[in-house]
Amino acid sequence: MPTKLTDEIRQKLIDLAIEARELAYAPYSNYRVGAALLTRSGKFYTGVNVENAAYPTGTCAERVAIFKAVSEGEREFVAMAVVTDNGGMPCGACRQVMAEFGLELKVLIADTEGKLRQEASLAELLPGAFGPADLGK
Ligand code: THU
Repeated sequence: MPTKLTDEIRQKLIDLAIEARELAYAPYSNYRVGAALLTRSGKFYTGVNVENAAYPTGTCAERVAIFKAVSEGEREFVAMAVVTDNGGMPCGACRQVMAEFGLELKVLIADTEGKLRQEASLAELLPGAFGPADLGK
């Protein structure tokens, strides 16, 4: 089961995110984002940003990937790749959604050339996170 984050799996996550990004729906910002998530069980889920004419109702790529996975019964995640043209970082809201499922998640920030620009754990990206433990869960 590919639960260990090897360089091969890093590249696969980045490649999946690049491919997914092609389907981003971003007619307003023209800032397309692709995400790919690896579950502890070894499955991959992708996501893209989906914008809306009513701007605040749009959703980020990272959250789409997580919600797809959770809606398929997955709750344990190993790593997520996020791909943009310029190596943009996950927004605060997405970091919070990721935090719900564990601060050990590795986040790989990559660009559309397939270059891994940064790798950090969610604990590093969201220090002092509010999470399930704060509600006794
Ligand atoms: N976006 C993401 O998909 N992920 C992030 O973490 C940051 C921002 C999207 C939202 C919006 O569709 C576009 O990028 C510009 O903000």
